[in-house]
Amino acid sequence: MIKTAIIGASGYTGAELIRLLYHHPMVEITLITSRQYAGEPLSACYPGLGHLGLTFEDHNDEGVLDKADIFFTALPHKASAGIVAKLVARGKRVIDLSADFRFSDVTVYEEHYEPHPHPELFQEAVYGLTELYGEEVKDAKIVANPGCYPTCSIIPLYPLLKEGLISPKGIIIDAKSGVSGAGRGANQTTHFCEANESIKAYKVATHRHTPEIEEHLSRAAGGPVKVVFTPHLVPMSRGMLATIYAVPAEGVERAMVEGLWRDFYSGTPFVEVMSGDTLPDTAFVKGTNRCMIAVRENPATGHLILLSVIDNLAKGASSQAVQNMNKMMGWPQDKGLKVPVIFP
Ligand SMILES: NC(=O)c1ccc[n+]([C@@H]2O[C@H](COP(=O)([O-])OP(=O)(O)OC[C@H]3O[C@@H](n4cnc5c(N)ncnc54)[C@H](OP(=O)(O)O)[C@@H]3O)[C@@H](O)[C@H]2O)c1
Repeated sequence: MIKTAIIGASGYTGAELIRLLYHHPMVEITLITSRQYAGEPLSACYPGLGHLGLTFEDHNDEGVLDKADIFFTALPHKASAGIVAKLVARGKRVIDLSADFRFSDVTVYEEHYEPHPHPELFQEAVYGLTELYGEEVKDAKIVANPGCYPTCSIIPLYPLLKEGLISPKGIIIDAKSGVSGAGRGANQTTHFCEANESIKAYKVATHRHTPEIEEHLSRAAGGPVKVVFTPHLVPMSRGMLATIYAVPAEGVERAMVEGLWRDFYSGTPFVEVMSGDTLPDTAFVKGTNRCMIAVRENPATGHLILLSVIDNLAKGASSQAVQNMNKMMGWPQDKGLKVPVIFP
């Protein structure tokens, strides 16, 4: 059994990692950390997980970071980079759920986030969108687990740009996320009375996931791609939908898009192309690592409309992190991840 640790286990993605790793047949959880709950049982933070018998520790305590081989860092950006550096110095392999190592160019990170405390580690990190970069993930010391909106957006768009089925210009991503996307910490925006019975756009034209999406779409297209990306907060706990408007190349039809998607993702277990009448729905992927995608034509304007759903805490974060661990360990990608949807 491989020893795994979750640094920042009191947060939402940490709790989701505990849920998934507990069921994983090849690993055991040997360390969970939290500053607030150090020394307390997991039940103090998550009563529903108390029966697992785990106790929080403080990641700063002597010897704590030697308790596992594979580490999941589920911390806010900036807080993560320092711990990742300590772990790498100890020869540990890390899957970082924060944005700290997601960019290939540190100046892009610093333009959109803040000065980076460990730019020297950028070259060690691989972007962990497993469907695209699985081969590089295998040997990575640091896997930068992708953001939720980038995962949901890049999966449908990447093959179409790579094969020239859509124009790299004029792509509009209109996306919606459940409130857990903001983490467990309370604030006014995610307060029940503010978020319930309401839908709102936020960080319009300024969201930090925009450059992350653009980096990978640009790689696909072989030249710079800029997108309009508008995120929205919707009153549900989990789930994410991206509705994407793109201009097809001459003669490109729905069946060609579906065919390309099927070919491109044929060796991967988690991307499902919906070619019937049913459209992707966040309820179809809740608690799973799946991404369901579909396309429709809009003859009046000539646009293609791409639809993509994931669970932001799962394929958008923690189960994708487990998928990456599976790749790093040489196990089948879906080891421990064949969980059925939570429905309703
Ligand atoms: N939520 C999502 O859907 C989602 C999706 C993709 C990626 N992510 C990314 O995953 C990371 C975790 O997100 P989350 O939603 O799980 O956040 P969260 O619920 O707010 O949890 C954050 C965790 O980090 C710890 N923490 C906070 N500040 C810290 C600091 N300065 N030093 C050390 N530990 C600190 C907290 O523990 P204590 O305060 O108890 O120490 C808590 O365990 C973030 O980088 C986020 O952007 C989240």
